[in-house]
Amino acid sequence: MIQTPYYLIDKSKLLQNMEKIAKLRELSGAKALLALKCFATWSVFDFMRDYMDGTTSSSLNEVRLGHERFGKETHAYSVAYADYEIDEVVSHADKIIFNTVGQLQRFEKQSSGIIRGLRLNPGVSSSTFDLADPARPFSRLGEWNVKEVEPVMDLISGFMIHNNCENGNFDLFDKMLGQIEGKFAPLLKKAEWVSLGGGIHFTGPDYPLEQFAERLKRFSGEFGVQVYLEPGEASITKSTTLEVTVLDKLYNGKNLVVVDSSIEAHMLDLLIYRENAKVSPNQGPHRYMVCGKSCLAGDIFGEFDFPNELNIGDRISIQDAAGYTMVKKNWFNGVKMPAIAIRELDGSLRTVREFSYTDYEQSLS
Ligand SMILES: Cc1ncc(COP(=O)(O)O)c(C=O)c1O
Repeated sequence: MIQTPYYLIDKSKLLQNMEKIAKLRELSGAKALLALKCFATWSVFDFMRDYMDGTTSSSLNEVRLGHERFGKETHAYSVAYADYEIDEVVSHADKIIFNTVGQLQRFEKQSSGIIRGLRLNPGVSSSTFDLADPARPFSRLGEWNVKEVEPVMDLISGFMIHNNCENGNFDLFDKMLGQIEGKFAPLLKKAEWVSLGGGIHFTGPDYPLEQFAERLKRFSGEFGVQVYLEPGEASITKSTTLEVTVLDKLYNGKNLVVVDSSIEAHMLDLLIYRENAKVSPNQGPHRYMVCGKSCLAGDIFGEFDFPNELNIGDRISIQDAAGYTMVKKNWFNGVKMPAIAIRELDGSLRTVREFSYTDYEQSLS
């Protein structure tokens, strides 16, 4: 038995997403790039590479990881590049997407050897949560004004538009793509490629994959562009658990258990978005509040129902722990960093990374 806490990536579950991505690529002609900001656990890149076209990034470190560990097509994007990093970014990328006309012009010379694009902001998003809404008022994410982009069209050949966020509703995607077509038609007609970003939950069980593929194909045909998607969450959804052990039990008006992990340190995104973790099947007569072991009062995974009473030493699997988890884990309270393990297709388990005191010490100085 592997010592908890650890993230467990199950390749047979990952495969289900990969097969849907491969099918979408085949039906639509769109290319799919893994968004490393969501998931960058490179031990499974060998496995994912057969089903995807490459990676996209949000920093020099990510573009380098994508180039060195994943290969295939490597898109570079960043909200802003610094002078000291641009040459290295370009050396790892085959496309660079600038966030503003200002950045494009500033780094025109350094980036002239690779394909260039610009991020557009259509002003509509599927998110109503302003923290995650790229189209929020005063957003810094991309250019809005066709008139300001037209003069630099000779420097670029494509666009990136990321305005979906956890969007599992095809009709909403379709409607927003229609708005994008309406607003940016003069630019899209001159483009050779368009990335529609991530945030589309097309690997979900009820998503109309064929309709989605047909819509992408129509968009591609209408404007004569190669379509890209940048699935993060959709690539790895439901593939991974965070395995934890009960360390203590309390009764404070509710039954509480404390586990050897921390939502703040190991599943930070849930805390930021004020969401509960998930356990499965979450059924049974024994309800517990599952709490983390950091000192944060609100370090709580959630309240769940279990079939049996929980006791010290029992293990709990926190579900859906791949996206925006391992990339955001941190050393708050010095809590033991979860190891990373993989369940192979034949069912065997393999630990691919363990973290020690030295990793904690070396993360500071
Ligand atoms: C530009 C861009 N591409 C892709 C993604 C991946 O999104 P998701 O993980 O929701 O698919 C994001 C997420 O923020 C993004 O900002």
